[in-house]
Amino acid sequence: MRHLFLCYCNSIRTARVGGLLVLAFSTLLQTSLAASSETGATLYQTSCQSCHGPDARGKEVLNSPALAGQSAAYLVRQLEHFSKGIRGGDGSDALAKQMRAISLSMTQDQDRQDLAEYLESLPAGAVTPIAGDTDLGYKLYQASCGGCHGGDAQGNELLNSPRLAGLSASYLTRQYQHFLDGTRGSDRSDKFGRQMKMIAATLKDRAQVEAVIAYISSIQP
Ligand code: HEC
Ligand code: HEC
Repeated sequence: MRHLFLCYCNSIRTARVGGLLVLAFSTLLQTSLAASSETGATLYQTSCQSCHGPDARGKEVLNSPALAGQSAAYLVRQLEHFSKGIRGGDGSDALAKQMRAISLSMTQDQDRQDLAEYLESLPAGAVTPIAGDTDLGYKLYQASCGGCHGGDAQGNELLNSPRLAGLSASYLTRQYQHFLDGTRGSDRSDKFGRQMKMIAATLKDRAQVEAVIAYISSIQP
């Protein structure tokens, strides 16, 4: 009887200690998640918001794109590509070169990760739609782009394709042109940029590109 009682007490003690451990671990996890998003927010306010805007929805006058709601993996990759000169490295693209200079001050992997996770957690905003043949744009988009970028241009993490909804028409037009003329997506090590460069040729002419971009700019996130 005494033996049984002891066993019973021990198992309660073990359960209690186990419970405390689980509690301590989850508090630790929550604290570290909160800390990394806080670090991301602080880094953003100090080093990025002057150009990308207080809500990370971009600034048209500075040609800086929206980052809010963008996939963290895509953002980290772009920051790495800027810093390695894979994007903006040859100097022919003045705006990418500007962003490359900033990326060189962001050398810690953890900082990039914290920033990217913070940005992904922000809600994407709507953009000013541009006039154009959105019906044609919708058809072309679904036929040639949606398979990778998602039916609502929300992006697809598994296919490494970024969100396009929430990016301004002028930024989309410029990037598309850069894929077409090889300013972006030509570096041998830029696997996904090269993929997008190949796809860019599927739209036949400028009118088709304009229609697709008019359609994307009409999507309300
Ligand atoms: C001096 C202005 C300026 C500052 C400061 C700045 N950026 Fe940029 N950023 C730009 C411009 C301009 C572009 C567009 C480059 C292009 O057209 O290729 C850009 C592009 C980007 C892109 C590519 C987005 C995409 O959809 O491919 C990322 C990611 C980015 N910036 C992140 C950051 C982060 C993070 C910070 C802070 C550490 C930052 N930027 C600070 C001007 C700035
Ligand atoms: C096979 C998949 C695939 C298809 C189809 C595709 N894309 Fe992409 N797209 C990508 C990937 C992957 C990237 C990211 C490239 C990188 O990492 O630099 C990208 C990037 C982009 C960007 C740059 C976004 C930014 O934030 O800078 C634009 C603009 C774009 N695509 C437009 C389009 C349009 C318009 C179509 C249809 C005509 C299209 N894409 C079809 C895979 C695809």
